[in-house]
Amino acid sequence: MKSNDHAPIGVFDSGVGGLSVLSASLNNLPNESYLYLADSAYAPYGDKSDKEIRQRVHQVVSYLIERGAKAIVIACNTATAAAVHECREAFSLPIIGVEPGLKPAIKASHSKRVGVLATQYTVESLKFQRLVSQLNQQAESITALGCPGLVELIENPNTTDQQLSELLSPFIEQFESAEIDTLALGCTHYGFVEKEISALFTKPVQVIDTSESIAHEIKRRLKEQSLLSQSRLNSRVELLTTGKDRDVLLELANRLIQFDGDVTPIEVAK
Ligand code: DGL
Repeated sequence: MKSNDHAPIGVFDSGVGGLSVLSASLNNLPNESYLYLADSAYAPYGDKSDKEIRQRVHQVVSYLIERGAKAIVIACNTATAAAVHECREAFSLPIIGVEPGLKPAIKASHSKRVGVLATQYTVESLKFQRLVSQLNQQAESITALGCPGLVELIENPNTTDQQLSELLSPFIEQFESAEIDTLALGCTHYGFVEKEISALFTKPVQVIDTSESIAHEIKRRLKEQSLLSQSRLNSRVELLTTGKDRDVLLELANRLIQFDGDVTPIEVAK
């Protein structure tokens, strides 16, 4: 056991999306403390340039390390695609990223015709393109679509079902034309509208969520480094935001992890 095993795990996303990963981590690693940072002032990441995302991720990771994090979870597909490799080179602590669940989607699919819905950045990223080429042989077809605007709708507490349906319908039509039977949600925000997405399909489609497997990966990496906390005493969750999404963050955190604290507004130096 290392002396900093009680230090928090730093988890971040461009907003509320990573809370799904936080929730699965809390279920699997209840002894740990967590510092969750919603970088909403900078959201969405998905329509920024490669350089902008990489710089921002570097700043956020540095911030979490300064706050004492013993490991970092990049609970954002976009940020992972842009910067996970470079962060692992720049920082010596364990850094766990996420990627669209294409592999589990192909495994679960009967027809081997699968879809991925993610941010435009993730779909076009080299990391995702490599994943597609690795798995292409195992699938009949892979339809990967970027969905600009969906993160903003999810972050906005006033979004109506009508707005969601208008934005999503053209994408669902493309998935239906490709006759997919399984859909991987390649953005951690999208799980919060899984019901709405499923309801727009005319035939049932399996939706793949990777939060559970990410939580197992976090556990594996912490164990490997002897960083697992041994007791629940002093374990706590702290929520931080750089933006104005306090209410959405609190509502979701309350629903997902029964969080009854407050959200601390912070600034991450540019
Ligand atoms: N939750 C992030 C992801 O998984 C959203 C990215 C964004 O802000 O565009 O990709």
